[in-house]
Amino acid sequence: MLHGKNILLVISGSIAAYKALELARLLRKAGATAHAVLTAGGARFVTKEALAGITGQRVHDDLWAAEAEIGHIRLARLPDAVVVAPASADLLAKMAHGLADDLASTVLLATRAPVLVAPAMNPAMWEHPATRANLAALRARGVAVVGPGEGAMAEPESGPGRLSEPAEIFTAIAALLAPAGPLVGRHAVVTSGPTHEPIDPVRYIANRSSGKQGHAIAGALAALGARVTLVSGPVVQPDPRGVTVVRVETAREMLAACEAALPADIAVMAAAVADWRVAREADQKLKKQPGAAAPTLEMALNPDILATVSAHAQRPRLVVGFAAETETVVQHAVAKRARKGCDWIVANDVSGDVMGGDANAVHLVTAAGVEDWPRMPKADVAARLAQRIAEDMA
Ligand code: CTP
Repeated sequence: MLHGKNILLVISGSIAAYKALELARLLRKAGATAHAVLTAGGARFVTKEALAGITGQRVHDDLWAAEAEIGHIRLARLPDAVVVAPASADLLAKMAHGLADDLASTVLLATRAPVLVAPAMNPAMWEHPATRANLAALRARGVAVVGPGEGAMAEPESGPGRLSEPAEIFTAIAALLAPAGPLVGRHAVVTSGPTHEPIDPVRYIANRSSGKQGHAIAGALAALGARVTLVSGPVVQPDPRGVTVVRVETAREMLAACEAALPADIAVMAAAVADWRVAREADQKLKKQPGAAAPTLEMALNPDILATVSAHAQRPRLVVGFAAETETVVQHAVAKRARKGCDWIVANDVSGDVMGGDANAVHLVTAAGVEDWPRMPKADVAARLAQRIAEDMA
């Protein structure tokens, strides 16, 4: 379950910090990669060397050194989950208030990954209204909490505040990353972005697609629990969380990657595939000859990926195409749905600022008719489409 996952372990100051070593060992044994960030307090209880030995990774403990090596933003983006174990009262307070004055707190403020905290502190500190309020704020923001347990502590005191056992924290991490939602068990293939069709080794034909809509759809399907293969042309979009990305350049590569990804339950073809490619790609850069006329490019038809997948022996149960139109949008989309053999068409008017922009006004064309959706952010179009897909698959 945790195999192949990247887990960022944040270790803050507590006598229980030694348990983080065992947690790191369990993660590594499960095939996950544990990356550790040590606070100044944490470093009083476990050494960087011990952590590096157990994780097999460089340990980060200094905001400015980390900046030079990898950068706190990359460190925040890299993990599938961030686990704060032990989480001291001080670090929980910083998290609750959005402070960012060292590497651990900065990474915790910058990450979008799910966060699990395993508090460890003296019972009086745990029961203090300030800590209670901080925990409530973190929980309200979706931070998961494991423990603390009750029992004997380092001090001659007992009560709640004892760090959960490594095995318990491990189980909580697995639960945090377990896929959930109506599309669990479904595989979706999504295409996104433009294709690049080479003219010669340095030139290509492309289009204005940014991949924003397709990437958002892949992320939205994954958020509902689907296993998603995103076949993407060249884009600058970050990989959506929890999605397997296959990078391609040309239409023919995109088709091959889509066919290789089958079988699937769902296909959403949001890529702006080039209809034509240059018939003969030059092996060497085309040279401008003095006095000679400009070259003429002979074009060849590219395969239609949507039509091919719609007619495939392993056709997904639901095939959704897009229709980028600049006039009579719905009419063209209805005809396109029939021509391509897909189940739904998401039609949009690309004559305005849709390509590369953040908002989209679409029409959903199905066998039952046409729905006009209001203009909304592309992320909302993606969420709504994923929801519709989940209802259809139910
Ligand atoms: N598409 C595809 N392969 C192609 C061309 C398009 O899979 N070679 C898919 C797109 O991903 C989209 C749908 O077909 O889901 C419609 O794309 P669009 O560019 O709007 O349509 P075209 O097929 O190019 O038709 P037309 O030129 O008539 O608009």
